[in-house]
Amino acid sequence: MATYSRLPGSVALITLQNPPVNALSAAVRQGIVDTVQRALKDPKVTSVVICGQNGKFCGGADIREFAGPMLGPPLVPMIHAIEAVDKPVAAAIEGVALGGGLELALGCHYRIAHSKALLGLPEVTLGLLPGAGGTQRLPRLIGLTAALDLITTGQPLDPRRLSTLPCPCPPDVDSLLDKVMAKVRQRSRGALAPVACVQALRAAASLPYTQGMEKERDLMTTLFNSGQARALQYAFFSQRVVGKWSLPSGASWDNSTARTISKAAVIGLGTMGRGIVVALALTGISVVAVETQEKQLAEASQAVPAMLQREAGRRGLATPPGVISFSSNLQDVSEVELVIEAVFEDMSLKLQVFRHLTSVCRPGTLLGSNTSGLDIDQLAAVTQNPGLVVGMHFFAPAHVMKLLEVVCGPRSSPEAVATAMQLGKRMGKVSVAVGNCPGFVGNRMLKLYLEQANFLLEEGATPQQVDEALEEFGFPMGVFRMSDLSGLDVGWRIRKEAGLTWPGVESTRTRQGRRYSPLPDQMCEAGRLGQKTGKGWYQYDGPGGRVARSDPWVHIFLETYRAEHGLVARSIAPEEILERCLYALINEGFNILQDATAAGPEDIDAIYVFGYGWPRHHGGPMFHAGQVGLGRILERLHHHHHNHPDVPHLKPSTLLRRLVAAGSPPVQKWREFINKERVHSQL
Ligand code: NAI
Repeated sequence: MATYSRLPGSVALITLQNPPVNALSAAVRQGIVDTVQRALKDPKVTSVVICGQNGKFCGGADIREFAGPMLGPPLVPMIHAIEAVDKPVAAAIEGVALGGGLELALGCHYRIAHSKALLGLPEVTLGLLPGAGGTQRLPRLIGLTAALDLITTGQPLDPRRLSTLPCPCPPDVDSLLDKVMAKVRQRSRGALAPVACVQALRAAASLPYTQGMEKERDLMTTLFNSGQARALQYAFFSQRVVGKWSLPSGASWDNSTARTISKAAVIGLGTMGRGIVVALALTGISVVAVETQEKQLAEASQAVPAMLQREAGRRGLATPPGVISFSSNLQDVSEVELVIEAVFEDMSLKLQVFRHLTSVCRPGTLLGSNTSGLDIDQLAAVTQNPGLVVGMHFFAPAHVMKLLEVVCGPRSSPEAVATAMQLGKRMGKVSVAVGNCPGFVGNRMLKLYLEQANFLLEEGATPQQVDEALEEFGFPMGVFRMSDLSGLDVGWRIRKEAGLTWPGVESTRTRQGRRYSPLPDQMCEAGRLGQKTGKGWYQYDGPGGRVARSDPWVHIFLETYRAEHGLVARSIAPEEILERCLYALINEGFNILQDATAAGPEDIDAIYVFGYGWPRHHGGPMFHAGQVGLGRILERLHHHHHNHPDVPHLKPSTLLRRLVAAGSPPVQKWREFINKERVHSQL
């Protein structure tokens, strides 16, 4: 709602009231309409000030209302009416003026903002544009160039710029808009909203105000009805749902049991360990960084402080808050509260490290492992207190990537899980608790996606064709470019550890009763580990090179391989590439929900959006499945499984079949459905 009061003299004060951020719900909009009318009618009032209660102007539209029918006065005419009144109206902005809140302020005749207020139009991040006049009023107020930057990225604005920037368009406005459009199209990888934002701003620059407003309305209608806006709003909300998970033991946990960590250690200073040290230090935690190989230690003690300084600078911190000490001696971790192990992905090595840790650490020290998929419980078993062991699976680069998968073993205590989850949040990450199985959630699904990509190469596709189809869908990098970046040896170690490959592969293509492609193993055996060796699925300008170029060696290698295995190359359409890679991954997502390794579809989707580059405007793999239609996914999986009976993971999951049989309920209802099915032992 909105309250009305008359200040001493002739000023009416309208205060928006809707905790926590005074979002423009139907009741607040109605309150604004009523109180503005009252101010107009009151002959003693000569001017009006609009503010928000509790030091916050307005956080914008109430997104929860998007899902239902529109109730209360619509925003656009309400703002128009304020703009049209003949008594001056000023917005007094403190705290936040975001989205519809800023658009309300833009419709006022004057704005006064606290220098620390946060102003912005983040609609683009929800798949929309600022559709209450934002794309038309803002450029007229702060100039086209600044408005383009703000509206197409959704980044907040320094309020001091509102009053100081000139508003005219630059003389070469068309070429500016063309340039911005090209950049936005490239950056947004298929997302509609940023492109529509540029179109709306082009209208602001070229059309009279009323026609500009019409264009804005048309574009908003298109976006509002697009699946992308629904996907982005789902992604926004799913972040809040994740993290609520009961442990396999049935015990639940909450933040109250979390310990606040101030001293930690990281073991192993390779790619991951270095990033984890930086992430901890940026959170104000003192870190003991341990590495046993002298050369690695020397390199890391140069590289880590530089990484930390760079990242602190990027975040506007003059000095990084945490202190780092380097050591080659595991004994030096005896005083810390948490140890995160990040040595090679080798079970016997990790067991050795955990045995050592449990003997040198104080009793009660939490032990985390950054393993990509090994059994957390096996590690816990060699320690004195298995309840204190959890998986803390970071993603590369660990100080940048937003995801932390917290892996709960069957014996992990609520306290250990809560501490890891809360630490992730302190580091600014999205923490998702998952169960303990090979590959956990993210890598368990990824394995099948990678596997399909390799099969497609065997059947006739090139790495470029596969990558292009995936990049066209919206991934920042296709699977082969990604493998080259992270290093082909990472997966190779894991497959060797799982007994799937050995040097000099020449035998059958089917291992342990299922189809297996040794292509990536053979690449590693040929010394092609990706960017680090200058050669992988592509060629680069020497080791560490970044620009991928097609490599004739790979094409000959694939032809030879196909000839040796009697495979005839066929032409494979991008649709088949997408279906085979994405539906295999999605199918495993259903299996994961079925065996309760993840709490719900939102958890899987958050993992994929924040850890694996799944395009946010497609919501996440499980949300995407719902948008494609579960019936269609089921039918295509049947089709591909029929064509590839030696790939058991293409066989549709029981949960998917049951969901389709139940009429394909929306993704938000799956948790409830799964719980019911479980009670009735249908899963
Ligand atoms: P890496 O090979 O870059 O680094 C491992 C480091 O551990 C090396 O510097 C090695 O000298 C050191 N080390 C080995 N034994 C040690 C010991 N006993 N004490 C102290 N240091 C020791 O490996 P990377 O890529 O950093 O992987 C580390 C772990 O993180 C693995 O479990 C891996 O599966 C996991 N991981 C890797 C990701 C990636 O993208 N590279 C992503 C997520 C997890």
